[in-house]
Amino acid sequence: MQVLILNSGLGHRMGVFTSEHPKCMTEIAPTETILSRQLKLIADAGITNIVMTTGYYDVVLAEYCRSLNLPLQFTFVNNPRYAETNYIYSIYCAREYLRDDDIILMHGDLVFESCVFDEVISGPASCMTVSSTLPLPKKDFKAVIHHDRIEKVGIEFFSDALAAQPLYKLNRHDWNVWLDKIVEFCERENVKCYAENALNEVSDQCRIHPLDVKNALCAEIDTPEDLAVVSAKLKEIKNRTVYMCFSTDIIHSGHIAIIRRAEKLGKLIIGVLSDEAIASYKRFPLIPYDERKSVYENISGVYSVVKQNTLSYADNLRTLRPDFVVHGDDWQTSFQKPIRDEVINVLSEYGGRLIEYPYANDEKYHKLDKQFREQLSMPDIRRGRLKKLLAMKGLVTALEAHSGITGLIAEKTMVLQDGKTYQFDAMWVSSLCDSTAKGKPDIELVDMTSRFRTIDDIMEVTTKPIIFDGDTGGLTEHFVYTVRSLERMGVSMIIIEDKTGLKKNSLFGTDVEQTQDSIEAFSAKIAAGKKAQKTMDFMICARIESLILERGMADALERAFAFTKAGADAIMIHSRKKDPAEIFEFVDKFRAEDDVTPIVVVPTSFNTVTEDEFKAHGVNIVIYANQLTRTGFPAMQKAARTILEHHRAKECDDMCMPIKDIITLIPEE
Ligand code: SPV
Ligand code: MG
Repeated sequence: MQVLILNSGLGHRMGVFTSEHPKCMTEIAPTETILSRQLKLIADAGITNIVMTTGYYDVVLAEYCRSLNLPLQFTFVNNPRYAETNYIYSIYCAREYLRDDDIILMHGDLVFESCVFDEVISGPASCMTVSSTLPLPKKDFKAVIHHDRIEKVGIEFFSDALAAQPLYKLNRHDWNVWLDKIVEFCERENVKCYAENALNEVSDQCRIHPLDVKNALCAEIDTPEDLAVVSAKLKEIKNRTVYMCFSTDIIHSGHIAIIRRAEKLGKLIIGVLSDEAIASYKRFPLIPYDERKSVYENISGVYSVVKQNTLSYADNLRTLRPDFVVHGDDWQTSFQKPIRDEVINVLSEYGGRLIEYPYANDEKYHKLDKQFREQLSMPDIRRGRLKKLLAMKGLVTALEAHSGITGLIAEKTMVLQDGKTYQFDAMWVSSLCDSTAKGKPDIELVDMTSRFRTIDDIMEVTTKPIIFDGDTGGLTEHFVYTVRSLERMGVSMIIIEDKTGLKKNSLFGTDVEQTQDSIEAFSAKIAAGKKAQKTMDFMICARIESLILERGMADALERAFAFTKAGADAIMIHSRKKDPAEIFEFVDKFRAEDDVTPIVVVPTSFNTVTEDEFKAHGVNIVIYANQLTRTGFPAMQKAARTILEHHRAKECDDMCMPIKDIITLIPEE
C-alpha cells in the first residue's frame, strides 16, 4: 500500500498563510501542520511509501518532509504546469510510480481524525469518505451513492448524494481503471477538470464504497475560516478522554499497539484492575497492583492511571465520563460479553462511544500466557499463594478435589454475577473424599504415599493453592516428614485435627468412639512441624474437635489459644450442628483476643451461612469439603441404574455431559 498526496495546488484562497510555503505546511495546532499530521498518521499505520505531487515551493516542501524525521520514503513528483492545470495533471505526471499497488489518495489540505484514517485503511474494499450527518456543501464535493456504491463524485450533484471528502482507499484494480482514464483525459489535454470527472466515466467498472464518517473530523482547509474551524475541532479532539482497562501483568507488543491507537483518540486514561479483581476472573497476578500501575504510568502516551476495583467498568466510567472506551473485539463473544453490554449502556447515559479493535490473536501471546500459567503451577509459586490470597482478600474459599478432573472443576468453574466474577481460590484435598474415591473408609487407612499421589494428579493439571487434610498428622516423628514432603510438592497448608488413635470422620460426632489429643501432645506436634518446615510460605493449621466431641466452648477456646502459641498458623473450628451459633460464638470469642490468626470453617452442616456473614465475623477460609463427591456419586449411581433398567444406554443420554464439553475441560498438554 502506498499513499498519494496531492500538493501541487496554489492555495491562493489562504492569503498570507501560503505566501512562503505551500498550503499543506499551514499550522493547525501548536507544532502541527496539515502535512505533519497526515504524515504521522500514515507512519503510525506502518505505511512507508509516499508519492507526493508538488508545484510551487517544491524544494521547501521536500525539505520540510525530510525534516520531520519520520520513517517514510518519499517520491516527489513536480507538476511543471501546476499554475494552469488541475490535480488530474499532477496524477498524470506521477503515473509511473502508481501502478503496482493499492493506494490511499488524499488531497494535501485534508485534515482528518485518526479513527477516520484507521477505518479507511482497515477494510479490504475500495472506499471514499462521506458524511451522512453533514449538510450538502454548495461548492465542495458530493458523492452520488446507489446500493452502497459511489457512482459519481463532483460539486454539481445534489440528489442521492452525501457530502464527500477526497480521501480514498483504492485497491489496485479500481485504481488502475481510474488511472487509465486520467491518462486518457490528460493526453487529450483535458487537464483543467477534476480527476473525479475521469472516475465518473468508469465508476461502473470500480467498486468504491462510501465510508460514512458522520461527524468525525475529515475536512479540507481552503480558507482562513476553514482553518479556524478545523483548529477548534482539533483542540476539542485533543481534550477528549479515552479509557482502557488492563488486567495483564505481561505487556507485549499487542498491548502497546492498541495503546498507540487509543492515545490518538484523546487523553488516554488506563484503568488497572486490582489484584483481587484479576484473581477473581483470571489467574493470580504475578506482579502486584502497585508495580503494574507504575509500568503503565511510564508508557509514553498514557495520560493517567487509575485503579479499577471490579471487572465492571461502571463505577470508573460514571466517575471519569470518558469520550471513548477502547477494547479488543474478543469480548463480543467471550464470558466478558455482559461486561461489554454494561459498558455500552453506561456510555449511552452520557453519549460516550465504544471503539473495538481486532484482537491480537497471535500465537506468541498465547505462548507467553501459557508460560505464566505454568509458572503459577510450580511448587514455589503455588505454595505461597494462599498466604497472598489471605492478605489480599481477607476471606478465601476452597472446594474439595480428589482427582485431576475434580481439581479442574475447582480450577475452572467461574460465575459472572453483578459485574463480578466468582471462582474458588483454593482446593481442599479431603481425607473423606480421597478415601471415598478409593472406596475406603475415612480412618487414615489410605496411606500418605497414596494421598500424595492424589495431590500430584491434581497439581499436574491445576494452578490453584492446595489445602491438605492431614487427619491427625500421625505420629509426631512421621508428621515432620509429611510437612517437608508437602512443602516440597508446593502444598500451601496442612490441617491436622487434635485427635489420636483410630481417627473417624468428625461428622459421626459422638456416635463413634474418638479420642481427643492432649493440649500438650498436640502442641508439641505442631511445634515439631513448624520447626521442620523450610519455607515461610507453608502453613500448619490446628483443627479443634472440642465442639464435635461436645467438650464445650471453653475447651475449644483454650485449645485454640494454646495451639496458636505452639506455632499454629491458623485455627480450624469444626461443628456438626446445623445452627451456626456455636461456630459464631467461638469465632467472636477468639477474635476478641486474637485478630490476626486466620480462622478456617467447614460449613457442611451449618450450610445456610453465607461467605459474607462468615467474613463479617472474622472467618478467613471457608472450605466446601465434600460437595463434588456427594453430588458426583449419586449421579453415577443413577446412570448405572438407568442402564440396568432399560438394558441399554440411550435413556441415560440426557444425564450425560457431551464428550465435547469434557474435552474442553481437559487441557491438551
Ligand atoms: C474431610 O473432608 O475429610 C474433613 C472435613 O475432614 S469433615 O468431613 O467435615 O470432617
Ligand atoms: Mg478429613
